[in-house]
Amino acid sequence: MGTRGDPYTTGAVHTVYLGDNLDVLRRHVPDAAAALVYLDPPFNTGRAQEHTRIKTVRSASGDRVGFKGHRYDTVKMGSRAYPDRFDDYLAFLEPRLREAYRALAPHGTLYFHIDYREVHYCKVLLDSIFGRECFLNEIIWAYDYGGRPTRRWPPKHDNILVYVKDPLRYVFDAQAVERIPYMAPGLVGPEKAARGKLPTDTWWHTIVPTQGQERTGYPTQKPLGVLRRIVQASSRPGDLVLDFFAGSGTTGAACLETGRRFLLVDCHPEALEAMARRFRGVRGIRWVGFDPRAATKRRDAAGPVA
Ligand SMILES: C[S@@+](CC[C@H](N)C(=O)[O-])C[C@H]1O[C@@H](n2cnc3c(N)ncnc32)[C@H](O)[C@@H]1O
Repeated sequence: MGTRGDPYTTGAVHTVYLGDNLDVLRRHVPDAAAALVYLDPPFNTGRAQEHTRIKTVRSASGDRVGFKGHRYDTVKMGSRAYPDRFDDYLAFLEPRLREAYRALAPHGTLYFHIDYREVHYCKVLLDSIFGRECFLNEIIWAYDYGGRPTRRWPPKHDNILVYVKDPLRYVFDAQAVERIPYMAPGLVGPEKAARGKLPTDTWWHTIVPTQGQERTGYPTQKPLGVLRRIVQASSRPGDLVLDFFAGSGTTGAACLETGRRFLLVDCHPEALEAMARRFRGVRGIRWVGFDPRAATKRRDAAGPVA
């Protein structure tokens, strides 16, 4: 749990950890520390993981020599097939989601960003951790980019499941959310049309533009506009926001814009390098297990960010 010198106990502002998130959460994140948790784990797209099981067996002709001169062979026992991939993915997520629940403040909210192939399994898992009554919304983030198969409806959305720790006591500040234009402003009158409307649970938002200033070059970067909306609605200025699949640090960027504190974790040095470039010049960030100066120097030598 929290140790002396951790930012939320000493008044320092933000922290970025390099490491496996389960380990960081268990060792460094106190109970009820975060008002908001946003998670965007790698999707289990079905491409990965055919796990081959290997076993060592005694064999007179084996090519490895072990204890007492016995000979051994390494034997492939077969592979685990399709259905297990889901079990593996959920088994990876479950302890991390339990940690997210533990780390959430009593009035806190979790946003869990996932794709259409996984969302139903994850919903069942999250219901079992939070309770069905704590499910607040399913946000559909719709975009319009990339290939268009013609044998089915082109899938162009992600799902964001929203859970609160206590359905009677949670933060949702509709006033703080940037309003958007009505689809048919003529139907609502000039005053309402000028004020715009609160977004619904379906968010039309472009992906990070390939040429835009916002782009870090990190492949799975999410749009700042999506994270800004989440942070504005479901936390208050000064709150701690936790993202332990942080990637390029979009959650951190939204926190910097809106006056929240952040705690970010990622296990890949490339992610921390992207964050170091993104947060260059920001004071009050504690980097753990990683030296941001090396990353920004390397980038300076390579030229400006695309
Ligand atoms: C989909 S990306 C997040 C992208 C991020 N939302 C952004 O806007 O850039 C998922 C991230 O989770 C990280 N990750 C995967 N497994 C992890 C683990 N066990 N511990 C920490 N980070 C992990 C990956 O390195 C990757 O950067």
